[in-house]
Amino acid sequence: MSHIGNSSHTYTDMVGARLSRRQALLGMVGATAVAAGTGVWSRVSQAAMGTLKFAELEKVYDQTHHVAPGYDANILIRWGDPLAEGVEFDPAAISADSQSKQFGYNCDFIGYMPLPVGSNNSEHGLLCVNNEYPDPHIMWSGLTEDDAATKASEDQIKAMMAAWGHTVVEIKKENGRWSYVQDSEYNRRINGYTEMTVSGPAAGHALLKTSADPSGIKVIGTGYNCAGGTTPWGTILTCEEGLSDTFGGDAANAANPELLDRYGYDGSDYYGFARVTERLHLDKEPNEPNRFDWVVEIDPYEPNAAPVKRTALGRFGHEGATTVVNKDGRVVVYLGDDDYFEYIYRFVTKGTFNPNDRAANKNLLDEGELSVAKFDADGTLTWLPLVHGQNGLTAENGFADQGELLVKTRLAADLLGATPMDRPEDVEASPVNGRVYAVMTKNAKRKPEQVDAANSRAENKYGHILEMSPPGEGKDADHAAASFKWDVFLLAGNPAKPEEGSAYNPGTTVNGWFAAPDNIAFDPRGRMWIATDGAPDFGIADGLYATETDGAGRALTRMFFACPTGSEVCGPCFTPDGKTLFVAVQHPAEDSETLDNPTTRWPDFADNLPPRPSVVAITQKEGLEIGA
Ligand code: FEO
Ligand code: CA
Ligand code: CA
Repeated sequence: MSHIGNSSHTYTDMVGARLSRRQALLGMVGATAVAAGTGVWSRVSQAAMGTLKFAELEKVYDQTHHVAPGYDANILIRWGDPLAEGVEFDPAAISADSQSKQFGYNCDFIGYMPLPVGSNNSEHGLLCVNNEYPDPHIMWSGLTEDDAATKASEDQIKAMMAAWGHTVVEIKKENGRWSYVQDSEYNRRINGYTEMTVSGPAAGHALLKTSADPSGIKVIGTGYNCAGGTTPWGTILTCEEGLSDTFGGDAANAANPELLDRYGYDGSDYYGFARVTERLHLDKEPNEPNRFDWVVEIDPYEPNAAPVKRTALGRFGHEGATTVVNKDGRVVVYLGDDDYFEYIYRFVTKGTFNPNDRAANKNLLDEGELSVAKFDADGTLTWLPLVHGQNGLTAENGFADQGELLVKTRLAADLLGATPMDRPEDVEASPVNGRVYAVMTKNAKRKPEQVDAANSRAENKYGHILEMSPPGEGKDADHAAASFKWDVFLLAGNPAKPEEGSAYNPGTTVNGWFAAPDNIAFDPRGRMWIATDGAPDFGIADGLYATETDGAGRALTRMFFACPTGSEVCGPCFTPDGKTLFVAVQHPAEDSETLDNPTTRWPDFADNLPPRPSVVAITQKEGLEIGA
C-alpha cells in the first residue's frame, strides 16, 4: 500500500491533520546500532551468496523501473488495458462501465493460477491481481489529493469504485514472452459493485443485517484489496485492508461508536464514495461497516461464482492470508492486521485438505480456530484462541456468540492481551525450512516505553522481519501447535547509520539494505524475496530484495528490482518453475501534486497517457530460474 485506508483517525492522531493514503505511510529516519562499523559494506563473498547468483542492482531512483543485469522486466498488463473486445483505454472517458471491463487500478497482490486447474503449467495460467485503491489526483486532471473527496464528479467517484477490487486475466508465455488474452472466458473484474456472499460464523448475524439485506449474507462490493494468498485447492484469498475512511456520515451518532472507533470508521469519506452511495453513511446504516474488512475467497476458474466473505478468518485490516497444508492435513492461514499496534493472527481449519476432490475443500475455511499471537521476551510465541466462551470472551464482555466475536475481532484480541506489533504486513511460511516469516513495515508511533522484544525499536521508521518457528522442521513443522519459538530475522534501515539500529548479515552491501518491508514471497527453492513500500523516505527507490533464510547468506539482502518514482512494488509471485517473477508496480507518480505535472508517465511515457499501475513479468535472459 501506501494506504491510508484503515483507521484514518489513527493517522489523524499522528500529525493532527487528515493524511492521504500515501502520506499516512510515509516514515522518516533515526535509531540505534547493530551492524555498525566499516565492515558493513564489504564485498559479498561467494560463500555468502549461497544459491543466489544474480549480480546485484545498484541503487537507482528515477522515472522508470530497473532490474538486475541479465534479466528482462516487461510490462504485462496496465491499468485500463481492455479485458474484453471492443473496450479501449481512453483517459478522457474513464467510467464505471469501462473500468468494469479493464484491468483495475493500483495492482497489489498477485496470484498465478495455472491452466488447466490443478496443473503446474508455468507458461499458461490466470493472473489474479488485487487492485487496492484509486488515486484520483493522477487519474484525472483538476483534482488534488486534498480536494478529490469533495470535487470529484459523481461519474468519477463511480469509476473509482469500479477501478478497485480484483482482476482475473488469462495470460500465456510464447517465445519467452508473456502476454494477456483479451476476451478470455476467465477474464473478470470484481469491484465495488460485485455481489458477494458471506459465510462462516458471522454469516446472517444481526450485526451484518442492513435495510437492503435483511439476510445478512449478501454484500455489494469489496475494496482496499491489499495483499492476499492462494489456497491449495486453487482459489484466491483477497484481503480487505480496512474500509474505514471510505464511509461517510456521523460516526458519533451511529449505533455502535465504540466498535466504529476501534476500526477507525470516522465518516471521513476519503474518496467521496458516500456522496453517491447511501448505505455508506455510518449514521444511516450502522451495520454496513461490519460487512467489510474480511478475507474474500474467489474461485478464478469459475467466472460466474460469487466471491465469498469468509468470516471465520476474522475482521480487521487484513494485509495478507497465506496458507500452508499442515502435516496432519489441516490448512493453516497466517494473517496480519496492517495498522499501528495491531496483531498477527492464525487460522487452523477443523477439516483437512482433500487433494483429490477440489469441491470437497470448498467450505474448508468456514470452520476452525482463529487465534492471535503473543510474543514473549524468552522467545516463546503463544497462539491465544479467539473462541467464544473461553478466557473472558463471553456475553458479559460484549461477545454474545462467535459471530459477534468475529465482527469485533480486534476487541477480542485486545482482551486476550495479544502483542501490539509495528504494522504487520505479510506473514508467510517458507516451503523449505517450515519456518514462518512475519513482516512489520514500520511504526514511528511506538514510544520508548512501548518497546518490547518483538518490536525492539522506539520510533521504528524502518520495519523488521520476525522468524516464527513451529515445532518440527520443513514438512514436519506443526503449524497448528499452540506455541512456537520466535526470533528476529532482520531489522531494516541503513547500516551506515548506526543510530538506525539495523541488523542484517554483515555482508550486506550499500545496495542491499532497505526500509519499510511489506510483501514477501518465497521462490521454489525457499529463498525470500522482499518488496518494500516507503523506502523513498530514505532517498532510495522502493524495490525487491532477495535473501537466503539459512546458511552463510542468511539475512544477506540483495537488490534485484527498483520501482519508478512515487511507486511501491507489491505482490511478488513466482510461476511454479521459478522462471518467471511477476511484480505489481503500484501508484507510479503518486508523489505528484496533480496529473498536470506528473513525476513520471511510466510505463508509456506518452504525453496523452497518465501514469499507469502495471504488472511486470521478469524473466532471466537465458531462460534460467530467477536468482539462479
Ligand atoms: Fe495495503 Fe498493508 O499495505
Ligand atoms: Ca504497505
Ligand atoms: Ca501491502
